[in-house]
Amino acid sequence: MKRFYIETFGCQMNVHDSERVAGTLIAMGYSQAASADDADLVLYNTCSIRDKAEQKVYSRLQQYKRAANGRVFGVLGCVAQQEGLRIFERVPHVGLVCGSASYHRLPELIAELESGNRRVAGLSLETGGAFETVYTQRNNPYRAYVTIMEGCDKSCAYCVVPSTRGGERSRPKHSILEEVRKLAGDGWTEIQLLGQNVSSYRDSSNGGCNFAELLVEVAAVRGLKRVRFTTSHPRDFGREIVEAIDANPVLCDHVHLPAQSGSTRVLARMQRQYSREEYLERIEWLKRARRDIAISTDIIVGFPGETEADFEETLRFLEEVRFDSLFSFKYSPRPNTSALVLDGHLPEEEKGRRLTILQNEQRAIQIRRNAELIGSAGEAAVEGYNQATGQWIGRTSQNRIVNFTHASTADGPLEGRYVQVRVTRAGANSLAGESVHLV
Ligand code: 5AD
Ligand code: SF4
Repeated sequence: MKRFYIETFGCQMNVHDSERVAGTLIAMGYSQAASADDADLVLYNTCSIRDKAEQKVYSRLQQYKRAANGRVFGVLGCVAQQEGLRIFERVPHVGLVCGSASYHRLPELIAELESGNRRVAGLSLETGGAFETVYTQRNNPYRAYVTIMEGCDKSCAYCVVPSTRGGERSRPKHSILEEVRKLAGDGWTEIQLLGQNVSSYRDSSNGGCNFAELLVEVAAVRGLKRVRFTTSHPRDFGREIVEAIDANPVLCDHVHLPAQSGSTRVLARMQRQYSREEYLERIEWLKRARRDIAISTDIIVGFPGETEADFEETLRFLEEVRFDSLFSFKYSPRPNTSALVLDGHLPEEEKGRRLTILQNEQRAIQIRRNAELIGSAGEAAVEGYNQATGQWIGRTSQNRIVNFTHASTADGPLEGRYVQVRVTRAGANSLAGESVHLV
């Protein structure tokens, strides 16, 4: 039996792509190995969003420099698309290079490898939008990922994604609903819809259904308790999305809306197509919703030309919005992006200094925000158990982790179940509480 091993770097799109690649290989008669040492085919599904992410795959491949003995190595995903055939030169023991837009060709490429071809590549970005795989391996037992669109048509000055994943392709609505119904029928209660820019989803096969309309239809699938989605672009994030969430409790109380900066001047240089005020308008819509919708964001510090005053504006912006969580990054120059030629690139130390200040400020905001939840109760989806603390690990609809005790042992393992939990303590990154009752 042929065995493969796959390691994934990067975003949830990549995590789910790996599930589809694994499914494709299993359908071809491969079995999945627990480590690279036990595999004949070792695949790295890579990320190139920042230089650090890109370097990870090369260090992995170097580890196996001499131990290749017969094993075939493959580089998939964003670094594969970005570096292309250069990977073969840089790392001679790599036999397969394939970008995400060419995964539908994997069976053919793997067959070529099996027949003795030493170097095969799938690097075309011109896919017809192939979303279907015969079989998808599902690695997260609590949440099923469903791709609704791929690629990105924006041209943010810092971002490598349009060049690694190609232009936007929306998946037909009937195909999405078919997959979601099948998952619900198989017992999944939580679905996460995925795409680089889900808010610009448009069903071309069916009179132009938009993302909000899709959300309503997905949420109506019987058996589902939670529907999440990621990622949205503020420019395409319409009020109707908030209205859909408001009207459908199945749609989770959480929106991830990357801001990138709180300074209109920097946003313009980033080519984000919205101002600070336009972003704040969307936050207003969310804050006026009937349910308390948690908001998370991404911020890049040290973008070329970001002045101290711009950075301080971003700090005030954090205070104003009070995000529930935040992912923050130092600007990292990427190939094929327009920011490379901007003036005002900042030294690493300065980017690092700003990142620390930003993270400290956000930590203080989260401590205050989470403390406000003490005494409240909410439903947690149970994802695990911590032996050391004797607490169950749950996730709220707002995407907060809540560690809680459950007095009764008669209920058996709680993983996969929903529990009403009362919050008794709060930290910067999680809550603690006790169960009230099973749902
Ligand atoms: N440098 C730093 N951060 C980046 N991101 C995207 N490109 C870069 C880059 N070149 C961040 C953005 C995006 C998140 C996924 O990664 O904040 O929303
Ligand atoms: Fe990384 Fe972006 Fe590719 Fe996801 S789409 S793997 S974040 S480069």
